[in-house]
Amino acid sequence: MNDEKMVILGGVPLSGEVKISGAKNSAVAILVASILVNGKCVIENVPRVSDIYDLIGIIKSLGCEAGFVGNDVVEVDCSGIKSHRAVGEAVRKIRASSYFMGALLGRMKKASVDLPGGCDFGVRPIDLHLKGFKALGAESDIEYGVVNIKADKLVGDTVYMDVVSVGATIDVMLAAVLADGMTVIDSAAKEPHVVDVANFLNSMGANIRGAGTDVIKIRGVKELHGGTFSVIPDQIEAGTFMIAAAATGGDVIVSNIIPKHMESLSAKLEEMGVGLEEDDEAIRVYVKRPELRRCNVKTQPYPGFPTDLQPQMLVLLTKAKGTSIMTENVWDNRLKYVSELNRMGAAITVEGSDVAVVEGGTKLTGAPVCAKDLRAGAAMVIAGLMADGVTEIYNLKYIDRGYEDLEKKLRALGAQITRRKVNPMPDYLKAANK
Ligand code: EPZ
Repeated sequence: MNDEKMVILGGVPLSGEVKISGAKNSAVAILVASILVNGKCVIENVPRVSDIYDLIGIIKSLGCEAGFVGNDVVEVDCSGIKSHRAVGEAVRKIRASSYFMGALLGRMKKASVDLPGGCDFGVRPIDLHLKGFKALGAESDIEYGVVNIKADKLVGDTVYMDVVSVGATIDVMLAAVLADGMTVIDSAAKEPHVVDVANFLNSMGANIRGAGTDVIKIRGVKELHGGTFSVIPDQIEAGTFMIAAAATGGDVIVSNIIPKHMESLSAKLEEMGVGLEEDDEAIRVYVKRPELRRCNVKTQPYPGFPTDLQPQMLVLLTKAKGTSIMTENVWDNRLKYVSELNRMGAAITVEGSDVAVVEGGTKLTGAPVCAKDLRAGAAMVIAGLMADGVTEIYNLKYIDRGYEDLEKKLRALGAQITRRKVNPMPDYLKAANK
């Protein structure tokens, strides 16, 4: 919520066990993919975060039934879908609403969708989504901020992705599932949530092969049927807690995860001298040596180091003596939050818009800071946990989009963290929101 702030008293090493929730970026795609299904989908392990509530509202606005029926279980039934128009404030707010383009096109052969929003890291184009739909025989135009797409018939073809894109890979997969013939997505994204969406669709009767590799082949089927599916654990939430454990010099078991998804982060933490013990479904993160070693990190599509852990990792690098370099290779402009960290005493210089040079070994001190986007918000929380004194974090709407029960989980690990009303809104927050 935006009229609230988080207050953290730093300096407490985290300890204990934290259970990771279902993957937000998988769940958002699967909820929208349910539009393709002529029947009831029971989706388990869905995190209760604001992006999910927004998507449920949009799906209901199309004439479908959708909602939580248990703590982490959502039911969606789009048998009676009435509208191909996904428009309004909620659609414009979240990036995952781009999936309505592929799902509505696949199900109804037409879609009108407000241009999707999401966190601001520079240009967030949809050209590859539209290129894929065109290859399948659809035409599109953009009118007053609404993307209109339609096709008499969708026929499979080969789509080459010029840039590895999670969103375009999933969107084209959604449009192709009920198309005639075979669609081939070449240079596809390999992220765990791409595989999860393919597994969901296959469990409802689709014929998708190769998800998790560069080439995904989708043979169109006539109809999808209902069923039950459980979302994978959240790779980014798991990584956020692993980094928080290392950053506070703690000892934490991060459980209910798929350790393979964490390999790029685990490798970097080991390089820095952090202790790791891996189990089938958990990783223990603990301090092995008082000083961390510096390292360089480059974000890449999976299986490379995830861009969605870049801000959290940058905070950890402030603890390691020497110069570390973080290179952001996925987004044009995802280092805008660095000024907030420097206000807490970090010594980070941004070169161009994609390289951060960290002079590590600085002590962070508490300050009022702003969550500039979802993962930058998580980074501020980690910085607050590490810092001397009290940190106040404003603009919590971003953090609430993607982390379930963040303070509750951190408190259970010993963190001194609370949420308070901001009344009246301070000038600092007003300025940050302009
Ligand atoms: C997904 O965004 C995630 N969002 C992002 O996580 C994540 O940062 C990103 O993938 C990369 O891993 C969801 O899953 C909802 P992309 P998406 O299409 O699909 C370029 C978070 O914090 N591109 O893989 O929008 C684009 O400019 C969020 O949870 C095109 O050029 O990302 C970027 O440079 C933030 N044309 C690159 O591809 C297109 O048509 C990767 O973007 C589409 C993308």
